[in-house]
Amino acid sequence: METIGDVLITEGQIADAVSRMGKQISADYDGKELLLVGILKGAFLTMADLARAINVPVEFDFMAVSSYGDATKSSGVVRILKDLDQEISNRHVVIVEDIVDTGLTLNYLLENLRVRQPASLEIAALLVKEGIQQIPIDVKYRGFDIPPDFVVGYGLDYAGLYRNLPYVTVLGEDDIG
Ligand code: IMP
Ligand code: MG
Repeated sequence: METIGDVLITEGQIADAVSRMGKQISADYDGKELLLVGILKGAFLTMADLARAINVPVEFDFMAVSSYGDATKSSGVVRILKDLDQEISNRHVVIVEDIVDTGLTLNYLLENLRVRQPASLEIAALLVKEGIQQIPIDVKYRGFDIPPDFVVGYGLDYAGLYRNLPYVTVLGEDDIG
């Protein structure tokens, strides 16, 4: 199959990273129950694959957020489109994100969820853009540190498209059109 853009992370590399993250999480939460909170829509593939790489009991919940701004930049003003279905007090919670860019979305989510007094709260993110977080975010479980280019695939979109690509790729001018 022809690939789109310049492939940054292959399907196999993603599978290896997700498996490693799952092992770390399984070891850290041994003997505990975990609530995975996927951030829609981007994290749906990471959530699905990561959950299957974890061997402690997990429950799922999802939040949908949108950050105001143009197509490729986050404004830091976050709107909750869908909140959690469940209470998280005294639960061990891991937020599952596709990518940490400015860090503004996760910073907002951490503050918002901390108030609900979970037993613990950590972050798993497939991708972390290097050196451009406006707020330092402690991403305990991370797949890859990547350069600060705009990427798509494996859940990540440009204008709603490309989420279904099984790899992570950097779009060229031609691909965006
Ligand atoms: P942040 O608030 O700047 O950290 O970015 C949060 C959200 O912006 C991510 O969860 C993504 O949905 C989106 N985003 C950031 N960088 C990219 C990218 O390179 N490609 C696609 N979406 C991105
Ligand atoms: Mg997102």
